[in-house]
Amino acid sequence: MNQKVILPLFNTECFTNIQGVIAQFELHHYPDGESLVRIETPLEDKELIIVCSLNDPNPKMLPLIFAAQTARDLGAKSVGLIAPYLAYMRQDKVFHPGEGITSKYFASIISEHVDWLKTVDPHLHRWHDLNEIYSIPAEALHATQPIAQWIARELKNPILIGPDAESKQWVSEVAQQVGAPYLVFNKIRHGDREVEIVLPEMSGFQHHTPVILDDIISSGMTMVETANQLKKHGLQKAVCLGVHALFEPGAYEKLSQAWVQDIVTCNTIKHRSNAIDISVLF
Ligand code: R5P
Repeated sequence: MNQKVILPLFNTECFTNIQGVIAQFELHHYPDGESLVRIETPLEDKELIIVCSLNDPNPKMLPLIFAAQTARDLGAKSVGLIAPYLAYMRQDKVFHPGEGITSKYFASIISEHVDWLKTVDPHLHRWHDLNEIYSIPAEALHATQPIAQWIARELKNPILIGPDAESKQWVSEVAQQVGAPYLVFNKIRHGDREVEIVLPEMSGFQHHTPVILDDIISSGMTMVETANQLKKHGLQKAVCLGVHALFEPGAYEKLSQAWVQDIVTCNTIKHRSNAIDISVLF
C-alpha cells in the first residue's frame, strides 16, 4: 500500500490530522552558511508531504527546495506542500514604479519544485484564485469555521469588525456563521507601519464585544489603529483575532497596550497568541 510520508519543516505544527509516517530527516547547517537536507525515511514510490509555514520566507526557501529535490532523487512519487501560511501574497501589483510583482515570482518558484500546494486563507485581494499565479494545483482552505466556533464558544454578544475592504470576505462569512452583526472599516496605508482607519457612522454597539478580524497581524498597526477608533466611539476593549500571527518583534507587546482585551490567532504560525487549532482543515 502506498503510504504518505510527512516532513514538517521549521517548527510547523497543525499537521496532526494528516495520516502518514513522519519522516526522519535532518536539516544540517554548515559553518559557511550552506545547508543540507538528509531524509532517512525510505521514499521510493511514496507520496511526500512537506509541511512548512512560509512566514520569514527567504531563509526557508532554499531548505524547502532542497528537501523537495532530495525527495525526488530518493524516488518519491510526488512531493506536495502544505504551507499553512503562504508568503508574498500581498505584493500583488506594482505599487511604485520600478517594483516587481513578487507574488507571481514566488508562485513560479514554488510551482517549479512541488506538485501541489494547500494553504490557509492566503491574502487573495487583487488575485482572486491561487491558480491565477500557481501553475500546480493550489488550494486555499479557510479558517472561518474554527474561528466562528471559537467566537461562539468564548465571547458574549460579539460584533465582527473588518479593518479594511479586503477583510470583508472573511468577516462577513464568520459573522454569518456566528449569527452576529459585522462592520467593515476603511484603511488608508501611508507606510509599512503607518495606517489610518476610517469608521462608518456607528452607534448602538456599546454593549457588544468588538472582535477585530484580519488575515494577518504583522506590525500590528492595523489592529492598534482600529482598536483606538473603537475607544473613541465608546466601544468596549477589542478582541483582536488574526489568522496568521506574523508579529514583527515588539508588535505583540504594542498591541497588548492598545484598547484591547485579548489577542487570539490560529496556529498556522507558531506564536504565544495561538488559541484556534486549524489542523482539522487538513
Ligand atoms: C493587508 O491588507 C492585510 O489584510 C493586513 O491588514 C495587514 O497585513 C496587517 O498588517 P499590519 O499588522 O502591519 O498592520
